[in-house]
Amino acid sequence: MSSVKIENITKKFGEVVAVKDLSLDIKEGEFIVLLGPSGCGKTTILRIVAGLEHPTKGKIYIGSKEVTYMRPKERNVAMVFQSYSLYPHLSAYDNIAFPLRIAKTNKDRIKKHVMDTATLLGINDLLHKKPRELSGGQRQRVAVGRAIIREPSVFLFDEPLSNLDAKLRVQMRAELARLHNELKVTSIYVTHDQVEAMTLGERIAVVKDGILLQVGKPMEIYEDPKNAFVASFLGSPAMNLLQSEKYKFLSKYGKDKIIGIRPEDISIVKSGIEATLDVAEMIGSEIILYLKLEDETIIVKTDSHTYAELKPGSKVNLKLKEDRIYLFSATTEERIKNN
Ligand SMILES: Nc1ncnc2c1ncn2[C@@H]1O[C@H](COP(=O)(O)OP(=O)(O)OP(=O)(O)O)[C@@H](O)[C@H]1O
Ligand SMILES: [Mg+2]
Repeated sequence: MSSVKIENITKKFGEVVAVKDLSLDIKEGEFIVLLGPSGCGKTTILRIVAGLEHPTKGKIYIGSKEVTYMRPKERNVAMVFQSYSLYPHLSAYDNIAFPLRIAKTNKDRIKKHVMDTATLLGINDLLHKKPRELSGGQRQRVAVGRAIIREPSVFLFDEPLSNLDAKLRVQMRAELARLHNELKVTSIYVTHDQVEAMTLGERIAVVKDGILLQVGKPMEIYEDPKNAFVASFLGSPAMNLLQSEKYKFLSKYGKDKIIGIRPEDISIVKSGIEATLDVAEMIGSEIILYLKLEDETIIVKTDSHTYAELKPGSKVNLKLKEDRIYLFSATTEERIKNN
């Protein structure tokens, strides 16, 4: 396994600047998640690390070696895609064995390696099947198996779970975490799903419009976001962002501010800020209330089931937990430290 250094990478596609002067150091054995909305440049960054794309500017290092213009197969990286890209006419066994066959490994060693890999992934019983005979989750395990068997120094994952249903996604997420704990191969994992990023990443790198906004441990980013975008991208439902000038009760924060408050940091009280219920969503242990505050929606998360009975149009009084308020400049959206 190896460290990866992304150094001042810019990538242009004609007029489109997909990645802007992005630098990121990934430690040996680390699992880092690139998190950002659709089109922010995540896949482009991975493809540049893999060697499938050349940057317009900047350099890539794997270990201490510069690889910017090296071919993919000289880099010893393995990539797992969203679409599993298995060979349809080959069995699961032959799909996993494929990289070793290409490398002209002898038959007995191939067999041992495929069996060990299948055991690691719990797919020994499926090895004779063709991809079309496998479920989405099983196919994804085979694709992961094909990546692992090469013993690459870096794994690149491009939204590998996004084609799976919700339950399977949670299960595969846990399996990928376990696999990383066992193999400790340096991994770069791309997703737009903040829950995946929070649960899998040792560190998260938040990207928007090709720019790296913030890097840190999941809870550091969640608790200490640098700007309003990062604050609202992590956490579900997202942090409420309110313009200070619009509401009297926020005037104490001064002009030109955005006030951020997470849905779980608003309590329902007897007398306070008046809001009108739009929708109440019961999600099992918790209730999500969508309320109207003038013309804006404010979201409140509560575990008190009595509020599930509230009718749309009901008046509710809210109190923001003062010490949980985040302040941002309304002009730059950068965080202003208030606590
Ligand atoms: N080969 C290409 N030619 C032209 N433009 C491209 C090419 N590849 C990507 N782009 C553009 O670069 C930007 C970043 O694309 P990229 O695929 O890296 O985003 P992404 O973050 O992976 O998005 P998604 O979450 O939707 O997969 C987009 O504006 C996209 O349209
Ligand atoms: Mg992508």
